[in-house]
Amino acid sequence: MAAFDPSNVVLEAEGVSFRYESQYVLKRVSLTLHRGELLGLVGPNGSGKSTLLKVMLGLLPLAEGTVRWFGVPLNRFRDWARIGYVSQKAASFNVGFPVTVEEVVRMGLIARLGIFRRPGKKETEKVLEALEFVGMADFRRRNIGALSGGQQQRVFIARALVGDPEVLILDEPTVGVDRHSEVRFYALLEKMHKERGLSIVLVSHDLGVVSEKMDTIVCINHELFYHGSASGFRAACDEIVARAYGQEMKIITHAHDPGEEAIYR
Ligand SMILES: Nc1ncnc2c1ncn2[C@@H]1O[C@H](COP(=O)(O)OP(=O)(O)OP(=O)(O)O)[C@@H](O)[C@H]1O
Ligand SMILES: [Mg+2]
Repeated sequence: MAAFDPSNVVLEAEGVSFRYESQYVLKRVSLTLHRGELLGLVGPNGSGKSTLLKVMLGLLPLAEGTVRWFGVPLNRFRDWARIGYVSQKAASFNVGFPVTVEEVVRMGLIARLGIFRRPGKKETEKVLEALEFVGMADFRRRNIGALSGGQQQRVFIARALVGDPEVLILDEPTVGVDRHSEVRFYALLEKMHKERGLSIVLVSHDLGVVSEKMDTIVCINHELFYHGSASGFRAACDEIVARAYGQEMKIITHAHDPGEEAIYR
């Protein structure tokens, strides 16, 4: 793993706990993300991955622990345009919404423009550029509801990217996306990472692919089970998975070939 400059910390969460009523969903979870780092967040269904992202993004209240973005405590952080977020349910929310692909992506500029400024020529160019980046420019006049799930996902990634964020938070972006598009998606991530020096947090259930493509892995099941290099995760994967997922979960293969099927069961 490339050593990350400790003075370049983008996101720092310390001892984050969260509960719905009496049920703890997160217990003292900590993680650090550096500039240019690719971090894979893994854990079984219901382990609190999406909740952790929402707490760190200020979408759910932070009751216990601390979160700092670029060194600024969450409750004082205002510069949300520096962060792009694609939620797990991004696509399914908007399907019936009568807006075009172009309009969806333009919404991603609102954080930068403020709600009272109308987008001009420069913004239209940025929207087109973001759509070209994800390979969806030809669909720009189409209704968002008239796209496939995978195509919608790419549009939502374009929306997260259009404001030139420094960090991208992606919650299971390849669910419902076919193998070919998934391979394309990871190539896209690499391109963004290389060209824009983005830091990325990616939630995925595909342990093989994530531990191969990301620099670091955070594995949670309500509590933190692993936070370290992807190579360290690969080396101790069976043990970490047995503890975090339970004994019945076993890694079958490590997918070097993107066409390979089932990574774990
Ligand atoms: N609004 C809510 N009210 C009560 N409990 C909730 C609510 N949202 C989520 N939970 C519970 O919190 C736990 C963590 O959910 P979360 O969505 O963070 O899991 P996850 O790790 O993202 O799972 P998945 O891999 O299935 O997306 C689950 O047990 C879930 O049922
Ligand atoms: Mg989730």
